[in-house]
Amino acid sequence: DEAELQARFDALIEADQRIEPRDWMPDAYRKTLIRQISQHAHSEIIGMQPEGNWISRAPSLKRKAILMAKVQDEAGHGLYLYSAAQTLGISRDEMTEQLIESRARYSSIFNYPTPTWADMGAIGWLVDGAAICNQVPLCRASYGPYGRAMVRICKEESFHQRQGFEILLELSQGTEAQHRMAQEAVDRWYWPSLMMFGPPDDESPNSAQSMAWKIKRFSNDELRQRFVSMLVPQAEVLGLTLPDPNLRWNEERGEWDMSEIDWTEFNEVLAGRGPANAQRIQHRRDAHEDGAWVREAAAAYAEKQAARARQ
Ligand code: ACO
Repeated sequence: DEAELQARFDALIEADQRIEPRDWMPDAYRKTLIRQISQHAHSEIIGMQPEGNWISRAPSLKRKAILMAKVQDEAGHGLYLYSAAQTLGISRDEMTEQLIESRARYSSIFNYPTPTWADMGAIGWLVDGAAICNQVPLCRASYGPYGRAMVRICKEESFHQRQGFEILLELSQGTEAQHRMAQEAVDRWYWPSLMMFGPPDDESPNSAQSMAWKIKRFSNDELRQRFVSMLVPQAEVLGLTLPDPNLRWNEERGEWDMSEIDWTEFNEVLAGRGPANAQRIQHRRDAHEDGAWVREAAAAYAEKQAARARQ
């Protein structure tokens, strides 16, 4: 009966074992996983746009090849994650509908524009760096398909972060104008990258339950702190400044002191009113409509194959 199933589920979580698709799970656990994994998948798919914007304008053949590979990786991450979400009983079509009808969330970070080449560096260094901090603990998420997808994704994210760091290093050590371009990109992306970790702990409605279920292993603020401590020495190597005059190590608290994050900006972006929200969704919707003939052709082909197999 239900109490027994619940007890078995609780024991698995307690013992750090994995929950697999065929196992019984509480409805709320299933729902929160669908919520988080589908948001994560949408983030990867929408996240192709700010960088896709630079593929045709990358400054060399080498940079273009790297950027294309990276954007393709993001498409792959979206697909693993949609597959993981599908094991919970939601269809890919349903998730796609939710996204193009603006009923689904995706990361706030992808609603900012990329006006210069240095933004490719800042995205790699800061955005993919934040993604790694957030996602390495997710490799141990209690839901098997999600945790396993994260292992591969994190390996690829490490390469993405290195390529961003390297773009910034080259620009920072280049001409004065290149150095300035790198600094301005870091100024643009630093605060939004800190917002990727979500609201502060005391305003994060999902954290406590997700941590009890061992989906999340650390709180939003803990991961944000970890990210900042990773950035500080790297910014020094880059010769670039993190745009926060109040950033300093607080020996007593064992934490970084920093300026208050502009949560009004975060809430505006979440409400769909960020600098590029409308453009991102419109682009996704157009791409979906333009791809209708491919889906129809694939379905017709599958049907033909199935009919042939029946003969
Ligand atoms: N952008 C958009 N929405 C956000 C963000 C953000 N940066 N941070 C929090 N939110 C949303 C949450 O999804 C939640 O909304 P919902 O209840 O409608 O789903 C609400 O704000 C409150 O936040 P929390 O209670 O803190 O939510 P949660 O416990 O899910 O934590 C977090 C948010 C940290 C983003 C978590 O969902 C997570 O780790 N997700 C997986 C990682 C991910 O999605 N990364 C995407 C960007 S990285 C990349 O794709 C390269």
